[in-house]
Parts: sequence; C-alpha cells; structure tokens
Amino acid sequence: MTALPEKRFPSTADRIDRIDRRLTSRLTMRGVVEADLPELLRVDREAFPEEPFHYFELRQSFDIHGDRILVLDDGESLHGYVLFVTTSDGYVNWIKSLAVTPELHGRGLGRRLMLEVLRRLRTEDVHQVRLTVEPTNAAAITLYRSLGFSFEGGVRKDYFGPGEDRFIMTLGL
Ligand SMILES: CC(C)(COP(=O)(O)OP(=O)(O)OC[C@H]1O[C@@H](n2cnc3c(N)ncnc32)[C@H](O)[C@@H]1OP(=O)(O)O)[C@@H](O)C(=O)NCCC(=O)NCCS
Repeated sequence: MTALPEKRFPSTADRIDRIDRRLTSRLTMRGVVEADLPELLRVDREAFPEEPFHYFELRQSFDIHGDRILVLDDGESLHGYVLFVTTSDGYVNWIKSLAVTPELHGRGLGRRLMLEVLRRLRTEDVHQVRLTVEPTNAAAITLYRSLGFSFEGGVRKDYFGPGEDRFIMTLGL
C-alpha cells in the first residue's frame, strides 16, 4: 500500500493548534460591561484557583474602575482580562490583575492585554506602572521583564499578609 502524504493526516496536536489559532484570532479586546461579571468571575477563578477574587471585589472593581477593565471575548465567553487602576494624583498606575484562562496560556494573550494597557497609559499623564507578582510566578515575571519592567528591590516579605511574599515591579513611561 502506498503511504499517503502526512499532510492528509494532521496530528491531533496540529488540529488543536489550528483550533487554538482560530479561537485566538477571533478574540476581541474590549471594555468590560456589567453582563460580563459572571464570566469575569469564572476567568478569574480559572486563572487564580487558589486565591480568586470574591464576587463583591469584582463587582466593586467594576463599579469603581469599570473603564479600567479590558476583557478578551470570543463572542460567547471570556478568556482573559486585565484590571489597571491609576492613583488619584494620576501619575502611577497599578496593574491590579492580569489573567488568561489556562487552556490559552502561551498564545500571546497576556502580552496583548499588557501592550494595550501600556499603549493607553502612554496617552495619559501616567509616569510609572507598578505591579506585584509572586516570586514563583515565572511566566508572569518573564512577561513583565520582556515588556521592560524591573524589580523594585528584593522580595517583600509578607507583603499581602503572612506568607504572602511579593516582588514589586515597575516600568517608567
Ligand atoms: C501570566 C499570564 C497572564 C501570561 O499570559 P499568557 O497569555 O500565558 O502569556 P503570553 O503567551 O502572552 O506570553 C508572553 C511572554 O510571557 C513569557 N511566558 C509566558 N508563559 C511562560 C512560561 N510558562 N514560562 C516562562 N515564560 C513564560 C514569555 O516571555 C512570553 O513571551 P514569548 O512567548 O515571546 O516567549 C498567564 O500565565 C496567567 O493568566 N497566569 C495565571 C494568573 C497570573 O499569574 N497572572 C499574573 C499575576 S501577577
């Protein structure tokens, strides 16, 4: 029997890759709306299973900083979000949360969200962007470093309470 060209039998990995590419290219980034809150909660729980936001925290973040939450939407469900809040003097912005659902990690979506935030902040008076990150969160640290963030000092012991150490990373705009 003659072997058929491999191309006619794409591997499962190739198929998943194609589905991934179709999904990620279909994702639009837009501002959050109230109807997104249950989905936002789901995305947050999937991305931070150990320490998700309580619903009331997301609700209040939406009420207070709704114009500072961007989501990634495929038309049916959300796959990521970023929450970024500027201090009252207008000079410093904190990235309060950045999340991509686990099945879409490593497809450039976290970078896409962060680049859009930085693009928007560059049109404002913001001088510095700040964020906290767990010392063990290699993916996030690598992403932030590749965007130009650097560490402000060493690990902050118990920054978010006992046992909750964090790095602070900053980027000047
Ligand atoms: C951190 C997070 C937002 C990154 O999003 P992502 O869409 O997976 O990341 P991207 O595909 O955009 O990758 C951007 C860069 O991050 C780095 N990166 C991503 N995943 C990585 C990993 N597993 N290990 C090391 N570096 C990684 C790479 O530098 C990558 O750039 P490259 O693809 O050009 O090499 C995502 O992993 C996530 O939601 N994690 C759980 C929640 C979380 O930790 N949020 C951050 C809190 S501070």
